[in-house]
Amino acid sequence: MIRFWNYDREYKKINKIILKNIHKTILAGNIFFGKQLENFEKAFTKKYKAKYGIAVGSGTDALLIALKSLKLKPGDEVITAANTAIPTISAIINAGGKPKLVDVGDDYLIDIKKIKKEITSKTKVIIPVHLYGQMCDMNEIKKIAKKNKIKIVEDCAQSQGAKYKGKYSGTIGQLGCFSFYPTKILGSYGDGGFILTDDFNLYKKIKRIRFYGIETIEKNKYLNKYYANENGINSRLDEIQATILNFKLKKVDNYINKRRILAKRYLSKLSKTNLGLPFENVNCKHVYHLFTLNHKKAKTIKKMLLKLKIHTRTIYPYPIQKMKAYRSIIKNKRNLKTSEIKAKEIFSLPLYPEMKISEVDKVCYNLKKILVKI
Ligand SMILES: Cc1ncc(COP(=O)(O)O)c(C=O)c1O
Repeated sequence: MIRFWNYDREYKKINKIILKNIHKTILAGNIFFGKQLENFEKAFTKKYKAKYGIAVGSGTDALLIALKSLKLKPGDEVITAANTAIPTISAIINAGGKPKLVDVGDDYLIDIKKIKKEITSKTKVIIPVHLYGQMCDMNEIKKIAKKNKIKIVEDCAQSQGAKYKGKYSGTIGQLGCFSFYPTKILGSYGDGGFILTDDFNLYKKIKRIRFYGIETIEKNKYLNKYYANENGINSRLDEIQATILNFKLKKVDNYINKRRILAKRYLSKLSKTNLGLPFENVNCKHVYHLFTLNHKKAKTIKKMLLKLKIHTRTIYPYPIQKMKAYRSIIKNKRNLKTSEIKAKEIFSLPLYPEMKISEVDKVCYNLKKILVKI
C-alpha cells in the first residue's frame, strides 16, 4: 500500500531524540511560555529573515490573530482565492470581515488579472494563498495593494520555505501566517502556527491577542500582570510542540530538498501523459507541499489507483462559494468558474520527505497504465 502521507516513518527515525527532548522539557518546569518557545520563535524568525515572530496555537489562529491585529471594521472586505482552505475564510469572518473571492489560474493561485475587479472602497486586506507550496505573483499583488491602500496577509500554511524572487514566503506582506499541522512542510505532532512581521506595533498587538490581551512586551505598570489591555483569545504553542519543532526546524531544508527531488521524479515520469502537471512559475521556488495534477477523469483515476492500494486526495474538492456555510455571502459566483472546474479535475499524489523514489515510480507506472485504459 502506498499511503498519501505517512508520518510514522519519520517518527521511527527520530523518536529516541524527540522523546528524550520532551522529557527534558517537561522536567524543565514550564508547559507554556518556556525556553523551547523562546528558542523556536527566535530560530524560525531568523531562518526566514523577518524581524518579529510569534508562535500561536494553529495556522487558523495565525490568520485570525493577524486579521484581528489589523482591526477590521464591520463591512470591511478581505480578498482571497476561491479555492483556499476553509480556515482562510473562517478567519476572515471571525475577525469581523467579509470574504470576497477571486478566481484562480492554471497554477491554482489567485488570478492577478481578476483581483482589481473585486476591489471596492471597503477592501482592507488581501490574503494571497500560496497553495500547494508555490507563492503567488507577489510583485503584482504588492502593486495592487499599494495603489488601493490595502494590507497583505500571506497565507503560508502550505508554503513554508518557498521563495518569490529570492524572498521567503511570509516576508513580503505586512504579515505572514504559517501552520505546523502534522502534514505540513514543518509538521508538529499536534497543532501549531506562526506569524511573521516586520512591524513592531503589529508584533506587540499580536503578542497581546494570543494571550488573553495581556501585555508581555511594553513596559508599563501592567506588564505581565494578569490584566487585559485589550480583548484577546488564547492561542499558545505549548513547550512540547515547541520542542518537536525546534528539532525538526533544523531538518526542514532537507525535507524540502527531498520533496523537490520526488516532485522532479514525478514530473519526468509523467511528462508524456495527458495529465495537467504542476509547474514552477518563473521567479518561484516551489516546495511541493502537495503534488497536484488535473485530468478530466480525475474521479475514475483516483478510484482505480485506490483499487491498486495507492492513496490520493483532492485538496480541495469544493471551492468556498459552493459550501453551505458561505454560498449566501459570496455574490460573484459567476466570476469563479475556473475554481469550480479545477475542483472537479484535481487530485494529489502521495509526496512526503520519507517517501521512496521506488514508490514514486510505482505510482507513475500504475497511473500510466490507467491512463491507457480510460
Ligand atoms: C491554506 C491553508 N490555510 C490555513 C490552514 C489552517 O492551518 P491549521 O490547520 O494549522 O489551523 C491550512 C491548513 O489546513 C491551509 O492549508
